[in-house]
Amino acid sequence: MPAIVLVGAQWGDEGKGKATDLMGEDVDYVVKFNGGNNAGHTVVIEAEDGSREKYALHLLPSGILTPSVTPIIGNGVVVDLEVLFEELDGLNARGVDTSKLLVSANAHVIAPYNRTLDKVTERFLGARKIGTTGRGIGPTYADKMNRVGIRIQDIFDEGILRQKVDAALALKNQVLVKIYNTRAAEADRVVEELLSYADRLRPMVADTALVLEKALNEGQNVLLEAGQATLLDVDHGTYPFVTSSSATAGGACTGSGIPPTRVSRVIAILKAYTTRVGEGPFPTELDDDNGEFLRKTGAEYGTTTGRPRRCGWLDVVIGRYATRINGVTDFVITKLDVLTGLPKVPICVAYDVDGVRHDEMPVGQSDFHHATPIYEELDGWWEDISGCRTFEDLPANAQAYVLRVEELIGARVSAIGVGPGRHEIIERHALLD
Ligand code: IMP
Repeated sequence: MPAIVLVGAQWGDEGKGKATDLMGEDVDYVVKFNGGNNAGHTVVIEAEDGSREKYALHLLPSGILTPSVTPIIGNGVVVDLEVLFEELDGLNARGVDTSKLLVSANAHVIAPYNRTLDKVTERFLGARKIGTTGRGIGPTYADKMNRVGIRIQDIFDEGILRQKVDAALALKNQVLVKIYNTRAAEADRVVEELLSYADRLRPMVADTALVLEKALNEGQNVLLEAGQATLLDVDHGTYPFVTSSSATAGGACTGSGIPPTRVSRVIAILKAYTTRVGEGPFPTELDDDNGEFLRKTGAEYGTTTGRPRRCGWLDVVIGRYATRINGVTDFVITKLDVLTGLPKVPICVAYDVDGVRHDEMPVGQSDFHHATPIYEELDGWWEDISGCRTFEDLPANAQAYVLRVEELIGARVSAIGVGPGRHEIIERHALLD
């Protein structure tokens, strides 16, 4: 079987769990290929008695909760080892078996000094801050590109680890002390902390690209799941208000070691409205009662930082862009139920930038900052849709909304989320062949 890529179409928090729930037991491997514990997905598991339990995962791939899945942390990920073991311990305490987890030997480690640097840099930037999650993501990817990063495999060679930490700190301590006026990191303590994880880590570490190659050759289903989303991608997002990794479909290949020729489908998750956390441009943002309505009804508060998310109407200029950049074959629309009860449901179909209509993302970032949405208003619906399980069950106006979105984004809508529970979804086309 070929590999399937799953990405977010907007600025993250689209609810990728909906798609993974739908594929469920049919997926054999779930690979996280970018980002680190800046992500946050809340997974709702329904027990047989109907009770619901919520799991908040930041670093671990969502597949960790499905016993038949082998979860993989790919080479493109940056790993905070403290968080890794905290999450594993938390799941183990709730009876979840995590023993199948594999971690790429080439993934990079978030060293404690990079967490510090992330926070002090943001403080230093003041009004120009990015609004990062403060988890050390940016500085760790910067080290990777600067070739002074620490990789998972380095933890098993004390001599090498010490050399690398010394090399990284030679410059960083100057910056920490002289520019940011904070304490220098002590190399010995850093090395000691990282080494303390070695024994627990060793059995999980593998050449995950090779494991995946074999799995694909054996006909297994491999799902490559992006952290963050298209507009947070370091190349294709709203730079500099982005994360520091490749969150689009191309990143799935570099971040996992699976070649592009093995990817057969790209599934993108599109929330029925738009949210964003952190700073940066957001043309359809609402600062009024409608924004508050979306935040409250959609429970739009960050899983990782608890920050209220910025909310706005659906923007299909962004949807189309996501289709193009990722080569999307299937969309999953999530949280359609949140729009229930609105008399009119606006969709942003284009932008006005200084009197000029833009149907595609403006070339220059400054234009995107000035973009005023051009809306098309569709009639809303009042009926509770959470019990709908086929497209035809939806009220006529909700159907019309989905069909119009499908037409505008240029790829088929294969599933629609109608509630937070695992089964509150309408499947129009199977996500797995
Ligand atoms: P960083 O990834 O911590 O460096 O943060 C960079 C930007 O990406 C900030 O605007 C964050 O709020 C945003 N970001 C990072 N992870 C997520 C996510 O999982 N969902 C939504 N936004 C995110």
